[in-house]
Amino acid sequence: MSDSSSVRPATGKLGVLTPGMGAVATTFISGVLAARKGFAQPVGSVSQTAHIRLGKRTDDRNPLIRDFVPLASLDDLEFGGWDPYSDDAYAAAMKAGVLEPHHVEGVGEELRAIRPMSAVFSSKWVKNLEGVDQIKENGTHMDAAEALMEDIDRFRAEREVDRLVAVWCGSTEAYEDPSEVHLDLESFERGLKDNNAAITPSQVYAYSCLKMGVPFANGAPNLTVDIPAMVELSHQEGVPISGKDFKTGQTLMKTMIAPGLKARMLGINGWFSTNILGNRDGEVLDDPDSFRSKEVSKLGVLEHILQPDVYPELYGDIYHKVRINYYPPKGDDKEGWDHIDIFGWLGYPMQIKVDFLCKDSILAAPIVLDLALFMDLAARADKSGVQEWLSFYFKSPQHAPGLYPENDLFIQLTKLKNNLRHLMGEELITHLGTEYYDEG
Ligand SMILES: NC(=O)c1ccc[n+]([C@@H]2O[C@H](COP(=O)([O-])OP(=O)(O)OC[C@H]3O[C@@H](n4cnc5c(N)ncnc54)[C@H](O)[C@@H]3O)[C@@H](O)[C@H]2O)c1
Repeated sequence: MSDSSSVRPATGKLGVLTPGMGAVATTFISGVLAARKGFAQPVGSVSQTAHIRLGKRTDDRNPLIRDFVPLASLDDLEFGGWDPYSDDAYAAAMKAGVLEPHHVEGVGEELRAIRPMSAVFSSKWVKNLEGVDQIKENGTHMDAAEALMEDIDRFRAEREVDRLVAVWCGSTEAYEDPSEVHLDLESFERGLKDNNAAITPSQVYAYSCLKMGVPFANGAPNLTVDIPAMVELSHQEGVPISGKDFKTGQTLMKTMIAPGLKARMLGINGWFSTNILGNRDGEVLDDPDSFRSKEVSKLGVLEHILQPDVYPELYGDIYHKVRINYYPPKGDDKEGWDHIDIFGWLGYPMQIKVDFLCKDSILAAPIVLDLALFMDLAARADKSGVQEWLSFYFKSPQHAPGLYPENDLFIQLTKLKNNLRHLMGEELITHLGTEYYDEG
């Protein structure tokens, strides 16, 4: 039965730090503040609204997740972060234009009090951002990391928070493969001191957070905590990490539809996905190097769900293409088209067309909340290293070496819930179901 004593209680305040305070971060913060005041519901947040079945279907035990596991309450969250633009969270939310002005106004006073700390930023890694006005005067990467650690210390003291978590909500950095400096902690720390050119700002943030005992989740597709040096550091400091790239929009749809087609053994010849979007994220992704990070994270999804090596006749010859086009009039209202060529009995062709008129940041905000709360839970349960049970939230889930990632949304949800049951000493649910039919 339940043994919640192995998880330390969520006493005091939890600071949520977001490197990057643009559309996603401000939509998340505004939403939490609005929910706190009772203006709005945290729709889309599994931690706030989903129930979890415990025991048999006949047991009638189905609590809310937040009543089952000891999560920080929304009332106890404090927000902070870094951005190379000095706009406070109110101005940034207004500029992002995701939320209606009356929603932002409703929590305007609180938002105005949230001012980003100056960023560790390099236009080498994020192009297409103009007029940035608050960047730390870095010496070496190590100096920058130390400055971030001082920020964390100051935030902790000024806001009187007991615990902290960080969720990267910064722009997508240019694509890079891991290099020698990423392979172990010693090389990485040497690289910080020597200003190694392969170390990105997001890696400097991750290093500083982990050194300060702050769990770090990566919401963008760039290489950040998914390098051996960070995995080593997370174990050394006893801190959880997770990533990468929030699973929203078209990829969310893909990981709902593809498992369904595969479950019924329907074949796929081609999957063409194209997006138009007009927010700042779209502008950054207009740069081919940043798009490359996104493309890699989006393309991998089908491969791992469909297993073309196991089902070559059905999925061995898929033409999979993903495009992102920056189109300013769309703002944050992305339009994602999917054209899917499938085939059934005797190879007869059929087509599926999906036109998802989505709002990216509206889908991403509850993910930031859930990750902040679950990463804090993991820390209080003394978990360190990669939190694969949080794959549910990521396009490109981080996993142990030698494994393939689990991308099927429904398996990911089962994994998440079973991990929560396991944490609380409840029986896992296998869906075997024979117990309802066994006689005697
Ligand atoms: N919205 C979604 O559905 C979604 C889904 C998956 C991933 N993401 C990723 O989340 C991130 C945030 O998305 P967004 O729509 O809020 O973008 P945005 O452009 O509105 O916000 C990103 C912010 O990061 C800041 N930034 C850039 N480099 C930084 C640095 N080194 N340090 C601190 N701040 C930095 C930018 O100034 C900007 O304010 C992007 O990387 C995006 O690709 C978003």
